[in-house]
Amino acid sequence: RSERIWLVIGGASLVVFFAIILIMALVWGFHNPGQMKTIAPDAVRTTPPFDKPGLYQVGPNEYRAVMIAQMFMYQPNQVTVPAGATVHFEVTSPDVVHGFEIPGTNVNLMVVPGHITEYTATFRTKMDRVIVCNEYCGSGHQVMLGRFVVQ
Ligand code: CUA
Repeated sequence: RSERIWLVIGGASLVVFFAIILIMALVWGFHNPGQMKTIAPDAVRTTPPFDKPGLYQVGPNEYRAVMIAQMFMYQPNQVTVPAGATVHFEVTSPDVVHGFEIPGTNVNLMVVPGHITEYTATFRTKMDRVIVCNEYCGSGHQVMLGRFVVQ
């Protein structure tokens, strides 16, 4: 009889144990969605949203900039937003590590193949800047440039 009690206690604690693990996994997932954002480098060009790189309006003066950094260019090559715009950058690479820097702003990202780099910034002042690759990525590294315009 006491054996059955221990069996029940053992079984119940196992259920509680797995419930705790499940809850922790869910909580971790909800609080760290960025850590789960990976993408196979081979699949970058066929996986949404990177199958259609570009600038998308998602709210009043709020944009999503879906961009690919590759040897040796950015796609899209130019991003133009109105003054005051908030831009959510989502950048990935199909080949090697690249940089994504807009000089004079807080945007200075490392773009690693297999990962989606995300960054949000608000641009209050007008500017016309070059997007610079600041990670050495091969023979065309120096000419890997984009353009970022706030007008
Ligand atoms: Cu891309 Cu240096």
